[in-house]
Amino acid sequence: MLPRCAISVCHVFVLVLCLSSAEDFDWTKNDHGSFYYGTFPAGFSWGAGSSAYQTEGAWDKDGKGLSIWDVFSHKKGKIQQNDTGDLSCEGYHKIKDDVGLMKELKLNHYRFSISWPRLIPTGIKSDHINEKGIQYYNELIDHLLENKITPIVTLYHWDLPQFLQERYGGWQNISMVNHFNEFANLCFERFGNRIKYWMTFNNPWSVAVEGYETGEHAPGLRLRGTGAYKAAHHIIKAHAKVWHTYDTQWRAKQKGLVGISLSGDWGEPVDITNQKDIEAAERYVQFYLGWFATPIFHGDYPQVMKDFIGRKSVQQGLGTSRLPSFSPQEKSYIKGTCDFLGVGHFTTRYITQKNHPSARSSSSYFTDRDLAELVDPRWPDPGSEWLYSVPWGFRRLLNFVKSQYGNPMIYVTENGVSEKMLCTELCDDWRIQYFKDYTNEMLKAIKDGVNVKGYTAWSLLDKFEWDEGYSERFGLYYVDFKNKNKPRYPKASVQFYKRIISSNGFPNQREVENWRRKAVETCSTSNQLLAAEEQRSTAANILRLIHDPLTSHMEMVTEIVVPTVCTLSILLSAVFLMFLLRRRN
Ligand code: NOJ
Repeated sequence: MLPRCAISVCHVFVLVLCLSSAEDFDWTKNDHGSFYYGTFPAGFSWGAGSSAYQTEGAWDKDGKGLSIWDVFSHKKGKIQQNDTGDLSCEGYHKIKDDVGLMKELKLNHYRFSISWPRLIPTGIKSDHINEKGIQYYNELIDHLLENKITPIVTLYHWDLPQFLQERYGGWQNISMVNHFNEFANLCFERFGNRIKYWMTFNNPWSVAVEGYETGEHAPGLRLRGTGAYKAAHHIIKAHAKVWHTYDTQWRAKQKGLVGISLSGDWGEPVDITNQKDIEAAERYVQFYLGWFATPIFHGDYPQVMKDFIGRKSVQQGLGTSRLPSFSPQEKSYIKGTCDFLGVGHFTTRYITQKNHPSARSSSSYFTDRDLAELVDPRWPDPGSEWLYSVPWGFRRLLNFVKSQYGNPMIYVTENGVSEKMLCTELCDDWRIQYFKDYTNEMLKAIKDGVNVKGYTAWSLLDKFEWDEGYSERFGLYYVDFKNKNKPRYPKASVQFYKRIISSNGFPNQREVENWRRKAVETCSTSNQLLAAEEQRSTAANILRLIHDPLTSHMEMVTEIVVPTVCTLSILLSAVFLMFLLRRRN
């Protein structure tokens, strides 16, 4: 890691050199330390988000089909503690409660996703449509609208119908384009009279890389060096097709917008006097957000991806690039298929140039980029291992989007921070700090001229955090997953976020500090409530164990007998070994 002074000198230069493409943003005046007091444009939309698999539960209820996440999470060893989304927050049964929480926050919008297999159990529309699933989303949408909360809907937040995975290989297969289009068309038909903001995909980068390259996410495939590119190629085509379907069949009548939600970390060069680091940092962002945004806004993959993957493929003796290509017709079909861009952003990395050997056996999305990622150890990292709080990176990413893609309309679709596993602390001071600083950098970006129309705090509730199970909590509201009723408790950040919303920004220093003080004061009462409730449910569990001899016996075997026997065996083996060794000597 670079010394502190080198890094800050870097920042001055990087602003000039790193992204010469930015026209209006004055990179030299990007003062990381200063806080900007002021308000957001009138009509700015404040929201919170969730996704179907992460919160709904009811995985096998009312005719829902299996998704790849149902199957993946039920396989042992894939998810922390072998958690599943079977029940999660039971959001499926708690529409009224959850809309109540949104009202408490005075949200303008709520972002959620529709579970494809809940509507079409096999994923193939001609097979069967599950009216009960339709009914659930109708109720949710109607209830939101009755409460003046605008629904923003994602069509694909990672829960592909399992049948499509088994039959066709999921996103490795081009046939997904038509199946997804049929699903989207059904949603437009049934919900489009009330939904005006649609997003085709959420974070396709994760779907492609973690689903088909590293295998950390469902469907868990490890097709290194090819799988992610192929999946992304089909996803981009599917996105474009759905946009055209809306444009030609529904737009005139329904007057909504169709976009996509892309994720992107910011990449900052380690040494801004080093042209190679500057290029590596730009490459990092192009391989991340640019991979999807460039085709959608400009019709083709970023030149740097075509160059790097193409060159490595040749060195590996392949006849064609591992990065698929679009035909001229496809390019013009895909270009411009975005009415607004959803941006999900959490963190930043320092980037330096690093050559990776191009051996075929070690080819992967990661080595194709020829770079290394670094972090500053002083960056706060309260929760997820990958999530460092670096607010200034957010302003730069937003300015990057403005300069690269013609200043599109942006909705921030995800931004937030988690806390670690055993934390039952509702006084989440660090989350207050994160939201305060990140939304402030967004305000600065708006002053820079970036066209941000709304912000979605991630997430409304603690929920199933993919391969991390329930061990990472992103919620504004704490969910007690051990309690079968899954009660929700407000964290301090609820009070703080509410103030930002009602003031539409940050009026002045004294007031903002007051908000924070009050938020932390009130949360200690909620903390006591939660502690009392947890004690009560632990006592109830003990009573249940005493009264239920079979469960009690089973749990005693797994929780007491097995660990005790194991520990004793290890101890005995150690003693025996020592005895043998002594005898030898
Ligand atoms: C992005 C994903 O879209 C979301 O589902 C997840 O909870 C966050 N990242 C945090 O990891």
